[in-house]
Amino acid sequence: MKVLVLGGSGMLGSRFVESRLAAGDSVVYTYNKNSIALKGAKGVPLNAEDYDSIIRLVEAEKPGLVIDTIAHPSVDFCDKDPISAYKINSASCEAAAIAARKIGAKLVYISTAFVFGIREGLLTEEDTPNPICAYGYLKLLGEEAAKIAPDHVILRTDQVFGWTRPGQKKTFVVTNLEKMERGEEAEVCEDWFNCPTYVEDLVPAANALAGSGKTGIYHAVGSSFLNRVEWCKMIAREFGEDESLVTPINSAKLNLPAKRSKCNLSNQKIIRDSGVKMRTVGEALKDMKKTRN
Ligand SMILES: NC(=O)c1ccc[n+]([C@@H]2O[C@H](COP(=O)([O-])OP(=O)(O)OC[C@H]3O[C@@H](n4cnc5c(N)ncnc54)[C@H](OP(=O)(O)O)[C@@H]3O)[C@@H](O)[C@H]2O)c1
Repeated sequence: MKVLVLGGSGMLGSRFVESRLAAGDSVVYTYNKNSIALKGAKGVPLNAEDYDSIIRLVEAEKPGLVIDTIAHPSVDFCDKDPISAYKINSASCEAAAIAARKIGAKLVYISTAFVFGIREGLLTEEDTPNPICAYGYLKLLGEEAAKIAPDHVILRTDQVFGWTRPGQKKTFVVTNLEKMERGEEAEVCEDWFNCPTYVEDLVPAANALAGSGKTGIYHAVGSSFLNRVEWCKMIAREFGEDESLVTPINSAKLNLPAKRSKCNLSNQKIIRDSGVKMRTVGEALKDMKKTRN
């Protein structure tokens, strides 16, 4: 099958490119500022703020599957510049969805747990979103737009982690592990909670759903809900680093523009429909230790 990965130069997008090549697909991917060459795939430059160029690309390539990972992932950027963020995080998905609808392609859109704000209890796909920052609102608009493609899968994920390549955005685990390995303090917010998601589970689960007849929204998160201090201490313990380097701070100290979500998403639906186990932080860190090179 021909697959178009929008945002293939990104942390998650590049993993999709690799996984689809490994499955024998023909892959086209886009990049914006990071013009990386992914061997075996065709890279094309794209400015997602140019709505029509996305439609032209999808129509020209005619993929059977479009995987849309494009976003400006900084929640604070979205609060500071919501107009640019709207073009990148919402309108670009609308363009992809309209074009996917026209050519009859399946669309996979990567969304976020930030479509929920601060909530108690375990949230399922039936719960009503209530974002509290521009990033959450804009990704929710992206979700609505993705539904224009009748054959769509929307994956809400959270704090994706795993090993990253040089030049790519480092994940929470890599950033803090490297700090502790240098003997530096790892300052982490005690009031930020997540369902950290192992990229080695997210990508196969997304691919399984893309290859199924399933459509709709999925909570594509790992099986732990914890704060950044607990998470960072687990990293220290797993990799034999000094736990006392983990320094809790309150996010108020950072004076950031965007409010953070605090929500625990149920991953039962994605586990059932994809057949992929979404690992706990402990299980994933053990796997990362084994696979470090
Ligand atoms: N990482 C997480 O923890 C997480 C959590 C929840 C949801 N998500 C969602 O998952 C998706 C992928 O995230 P990620 O962490 O892989 O992000 P990332 O590494 O920053 O990748 C983002 C991708 O979007 C592209 N992009 C950004 N601005 C663009 C523009 N103006 N025009 C064209 N392309 C543009 C980037 O291209 P260049 O790099 O070439 O500029 C890159 O390929 C996003 O939709 C994000 O909202 C991620």
